[in-house]
Amino acid sequence: MFKPTDAAWERLTDSARLAADRAYCPYSGFRVGAAVLMTDGHYAIGANIENASYGLTICAERVAVFMARMLGIDAKPLGVAIYTPTQAPTAPCGACRQVLYEFGGPELRVIAVCDGPKRIDCLLCQLLPAAFGPSDLDAEGDPVPAAL
Ligand code: THU
Repeated sequence: MFKPTDAAWERLTDSARLAADRAYCPYSGFRVGAAVLMTDGHYAIGANIENASYGLTICAERVAVFMARMLGIDAKPLGVAIYTPTQAPTAPCGACRQVLYEFGGPELRVIAVCDGPKRIDCLLCQLLPAAFGPSDLDAEGDPVPAAL
């Protein structure tokens, strides 16, 4: 299996930094860039895209994951990098954790970088323990309770 070098992980964080330039965030002014590294070595990028109907906003991480899918990359995300132009790194929101889990699973590496010296570097299972995921839908049996 493809084993990324330190340079490949560095390229991932660089890509997230560049992706932040594509953010459309006139409402929050909070720019986020993301990049995913796939198990076959491909990269995909995303940035947050907001809407005047605020709830329709989509986060950078989800744009990156969906971009990988739509590019037809036949592989899973191995890691995600997130960049915010802030002094402290920003962890992915709950909705993005769930979407990352769907495609990357518990061992996905999550790296968040910023303009300060700190970074987050952990596995998705640390950010989303006891996750609900695709295998939960595999259970055999009648989904309708017997009493009904
Ligand atoms: N945002 C992301 O892009 N990723 C996250 O994980 C957290 C939040 C965006 C959504 C919105 O455009 C802005 O940051 C402020 O919430």
